Amino acid sequence: MPNPWSSWGWLGAVGLGLMLPLGTTDAAESMQGSTLCTKIPVPCDAVIAHRGASYQAPESTRPAYLLARDLGADYLELDLQRTRDGVLVAVHDNTLGRNTNVAEVFPDRVDAPVSSFTLDELKQLDAGNWFNEAYPDRARDDYAGLKILTLDEVIDIAEGGENHPGLYIETKVPEQFPGIEKDLHEKLESRGWLGDAAKSRPAAKGAVKVGDGPGRIVMQTFSRASLEALEQELPHVPRVLLLWLGDGGIEAAPSEPQGDNESDADYYARQKVASPEAYQAWLDFAKQHGAIGVGPSALQSEHDGPFSSRFSYADLAEPWMVGMAHDDGLLVHLYTVDDAEDFERYRERGVDGFFTNRPAQLLEFYGQPSQDQNAILDRYGY
Ligand code: G3P
Ligand code: CA
Repeated sequence: MPNPWSSWGWLGAVGLGLMLPLGTTDAAESMQGSTLCTKIPVPCDAVIAHRGASYQAPESTRPAYLLARDLGADYLELDLQRTRDGVLVAVHDNTLGRNTNVAEVFPDRVDAPVSSFTLDELKQLDAGNWFNEAYPDRARDDYAGLKILTLDEVIDIAEGGENHPGLYIETKVPEQFPGIEKDLHEKLESRGWLGDAAKSRPAAKGAVKVGDGPGRIVMQTFSRASLEALEQELPHVPRVLLLWLGDGGIEAAPSEPQGDNESDADYYARQKVASPEAYQAWLDFAKQHGAIGVGPSALQSEHDGPFSSRFSYADLAEPWMVGMAHDDGLLVHLYTVDDAEDFERYRERGVDGFFTNRPAQLLEFYGQPSQDQNAILDRYGY
């Protein structure tokens, strides 16, 4: 959602964020909504289109990003990896079996990492037909044959419409890609996406302009090492530390294994952080490395939806956690939320934005007029 950013420069805003002492926000503000977003150059109530509008079109493909852009998402979210020949691409998984036909094209390489493929090889894959098979109610003939996109191609989409969304880029499995932060720096520089001055592109009245301002890029990572590398390589680009529970993430309280008849919803609902101190330690690391915010996982109320098996996580945005982050001057962008019931529940807790596969639904939740997604896809020939 566009918002009236303060006129302060990005460096000033960072400075303010870092100078906010602990405990400066009162409980009411923490619980009912942050005002931090008016002081940091990222939209309040941010609509972050997770792998594009990936409920309606195959994730991280051209129609998914075109749809997200034209709907009016603030950010196009992507997971950054690098091909064997050094090209930056938007792919989520470490391997290609789930959402391409790699098993047909390269049967011996189903379990090979994305990083072992050249761009030419990746471009031989069909990144759309899996979606038609998995979700026949949303299938479109022209999704078959969709290609994996390079970062350049995603930037072209971001720059190519009336709306000017920003890019919310995750360094995915960064330990596999030494120096990817530097490669990204060079790419963003060459494409004119860095620097203090807002891009001077005319934008229609009411259009999204996030891509023209100092918050046009937000970097996100689960990796502490990558957060540090981003701090070194792209010090003036806003960055967010993603949070997860257990297995190298925030320390979890002891819990019984999932029961045979226990639903995911029930299982994840009882996964808890070990202590406030365990949560605070991750906020401290984010702050120490100049992050503007954190990206905690959400507990989804709906667990039989199309993405349920992949997007079930513990609730790392309980009210006290959101309050603790805000008190530390950190925004809270929650992943990955698709249902109105969850938008409502977490917004009441004061989160500052959502990663969502369904940007149309989130925009409606935030009061924007509903739009005909099929008409948008039709317009682009899908
Ligand atoms: O980047 C936020 C969210 O996308 C993290 O989860 O696994 O979908 O990249 P993942
Ligand atoms: Ca991601």
